[in-house]
Order: sequence, then C-alpha cells, then structure tokens
Amino acid sequence: MPAVATTQVAIIGAGPAGLLLAQLLHLQGIDSVILEQRSEAYVLGRVRAGLLESPTVEVLREAGVADRMAVEGVEHHGIHLRFDGRTHQLDFAGTTGRQAMNYGQAEVVKDLIRHRRATGRPLVFEAEAVTPTGFESLDGHGPAVVTWRDEHGEHRLTADFIAGCDGFHGVSRVAIPPGTITAAQRSYPFAWLGILARTRPTLPEVVYSAHQDGLSVHSMRGHELTRQYLQVPADTVLDDWPDERIWTELTRRHAADDVGPLATGEVIDRTLAPLRSVVFSPMQYGRMFLAGDAVHIVPPTGAKGLNLAVSDVSVLSHALGGYYAGAGSHHLAEYTRTSLPRIWQAELFSWQMTTMLHRFPGDEFDRGLQRARLEQVVASPTQIAALGELYFGLPFPRHWSFRD
Ligand code: FAD
Ligand code: PHB
Repeated sequence: MPAVATTQVAIIGAGPAGLLLAQLLHLQGIDSVILEQRSEAYVLGRVRAGLLESPTVEVLREAGVADRMAVEGVEHHGIHLRFDGRTHQLDFAGTTGRQAMNYGQAEVVKDLIRHRRATGRPLVFEAEAVTPTGFESLDGHGPAVVTWRDEHGEHRLTADFIAGCDGFHGVSRVAIPPGTITAAQRSYPFAWLGILARTRPTLPEVVYSAHQDGLSVHSMRGHELTRQYLQVPADTVLDDWPDERIWTELTRRHAADDVGPLATGEVIDRTLAPLRSVVFSPMQYGRMFLAGDAVHIVPPTGAKGLNLAVSDVSVLSHALGGYYAGAGSHHLAEYTRTSLPRIWQAELFSWQMTTMLHRFPGDEFDRGLQRARLEQVVASPTQIAALGELYFGLPFPRHWSFRD
C-alpha cells in the first residue's frame, strides 16, 4: 500500500519554473510538494541559460532569492552586434532606462533549492514514474492525484492543483487528453553548440557575431568564465567537435577589425541544443497548469526561455494566491488568456533575432534583407530602444508585490 500525503499544489519538475513557483506560493502561505525525476547533483550541474530580463530580476528579488545574484551577477546595459568586421555597441540602458543581469541558470536553481530547503517544505529528487491523474475538472470534487516511486517504495500525493513544470519532455502535458492542446511550431535547420570555458570575457556584455559561416555568441558566467555558442548544422554530433575545432571556429567567427583575438582555455562543459519554436495552447486543463518549457520553447537567440518560465509562474502563483485568498477560480480560469500574449511577443522576438543573426540556406535576396535588417537595428537610438525594450523584457502580464 503506497504512503499517502496531501498538499495544496503538487509541482512536477524542479527546474526554474517549479522551484520558483514553490517559493512564490510559500510566500503566500500555500503548501506544495516538488517532485523531480533527476538527482540533485544532475539538476545543479545543468548549464543552460544565463541572461535574466529586468522583470525576472525583480521577481527573484521580491521572492527573496536574489541575495547571491546581487553580489555575483553581472549587470548588463546592452549587447554588441558584430557584422561585416565591425562591432556595434547597443546601449539599451541608455535608451530604455532598464538593465538586465547575467547570472547562470544553474546558480538561480542552486539559490532556489537552498531557499526551498529553508522553508522545510518537501522537495523530492529521483522520483520515478511520476504520474498525474484526477485533474480533469477545475471546480470538480475530489483531489488531483500524483503517484511516483523511489527507493522507499510507491507514493501517492493528493492535491488541489497540479503544476506541470517538467520541461519539454515531461509527463504533465502528455497526461492531458489528446486533442485538447494544440501545438504551433517552427523548426530551424541548425543547432547551438555551447561551451563553458575558463577564459575571461572579451567584452562585459553579450556579443552576437553574425558571420557568413554562421552565428557565434560570446557570453559569460561571472568575470572568469565564458559561455560561448556556435551555430552548427542540426545533425551535428558533439564528438565530431573536439575543443581545438570549437576554438578555431569560435575564433574565426569572433574576429573583427575592432577586436583582438579570442582568448582560448579549458572547456568545462559542452552542450548541443536544437533550435525550435513551439507554443502549446491552452496552457491548462482542469486543475493541471503547465508552465515554462512544458508549454513553450523558444530558440535561445533571444535569451527568453528561462525568463518565460519565470513570467508563467509569476502569473500562476498570483492566480493560485487569489484562489486560496477566497477570490474563487476566476484568475486560474484566465491563466492561459493572461499569459499567452506575452509568450507570443517573446516567440516573435526570438524568431526575429534568429532570422536576423543566423546563416540560413537562401539566395542573394535573403542575404540582402538580412544585412538591411542588421544595418537598420544599429542605425538610430529609436531602433536600439525598440530592440532593447524587447531584449530586456516586456513587463510581466500581472505584476504585484508580496510586500503590498
Ligand atoms: P526545465 O529547466 O527543463 O526543468 C524541468 C524539470 O522537470 C527538470 O529538472 C526535469 O528533470 C524535470 N522533469 C522532466 N520530466 C519529469 C518527470 N517525468 N517527472 C519529474 N520531473 C521531471 N535558454 C536560454 O535562454 N539560453 C540558453 O542558452 C539555453 N540553453 C539551453 C540548453 C538546453 C540543452 C536546454 C534543454 C534548454 C536551454 N535553454 C536556454 C532554455 C532554458 O534553459 C529553459 O527555458 C528553462 O530551463 C525552462 O525552465 P523550466 O523549469 O520550464 O524547465
Ligand atoms: C547565455 O549567457 O547563456 C546566453 C546569452 C545570450 C543568449 C543566449 C544565451 O542569446
């Protein structure tokens, strides 16, 4: 007989979405259990995104999890766009009055796990065969149920709601009856090969180099490590890219008349990520609410993936907070409608950045348009401000403070 436990919100997945949602609920006195299929070490070791929009930074501060970020994060005031051998500094802070933060996703997750532990509320790693059921009706009777097993045996959790924060390959979205959710999607004929390297950043902000052989991106994790990416074909095999080949290609694409050569050094981590755009809709079914990569994917060119996960759970935690404060399920019923417009803005921006900066198969006309677009965005403060407003993040759909 499985052990039975009860909570208010069962959260599947301990990525940024699940962990932050748990913290935002905790601050409103709402209980949750987080179930994660991987080990803690695996979750902490995943090197992914690194650029936090200004609304994301604000929510992390309000959630009380930004103490280390305030010390170790690197404030960004803009980006550098490099093409035709020249680097253009785009001053977003000067044109929009806002800033962003470079602070690795692994660090955000580490901070969230530390704060979760401090609450004393459950966070279960290595939960196998996590299965959500009984969530079909928003106002129905009887609890939703999540079962799983671990080294101690079989477990059964009953909950008022389930938050599916388990990424693109998770179980939550696929547990929703087929035909209920539709996918709008686009794939791209390339992937990003990413490295984390023990080298100092060449510039204090992200550099996008639109080279004729493909995009390269130079970013950082603190002042001693760089995070760099190469556009590679979609069918690339990581083993075909020894460090020397990666550095040769990064150096070639990074080169410009106004910069010195790229510093090379020890490669600590390598990843390969396909580029795609996907939006699933609606984002909810009965008492199941999807957030983050479980319900949308953006290509990394706009640095929006992690930020969208944060804006989703910001909206969802507010709706759940309203429900438990006695305001009924109105905000929960509106979750998709509240969240989707901003998600589509991020999809549009990520698609525009992707098409502007990558080398696509195409003819001279396509290349002419691409160059015209690059020249346009660096041409005037108005253009720079327009890009900066989107890059540094549109306001979240619903903003409130826990201190109100
Ligand atoms: P995730 O971080 O994926 O977290 C989901 C969690 O759910 C994981 O811990 C997973 O182990 C867990 N889980 C999955 N299935 C189950 C299950 N059945 N039961 C229990 N738990 C489960 N974005 C950028 O902006 N820039 C980048 O450079 C960048 N690089 C990326 C590289 C890779 C390889 C990937 C996959 C994504 C990258 N992203 C990047 C996107 C960004 O990291 C994501 O948008 C972000 O992680 C979304 O957070 P999330 O919490 O929604 O999902
Ligand atoms: C990163 O720092 O990892 C990063 C920066 C900019 C991007 C994507 C990723 O567009």
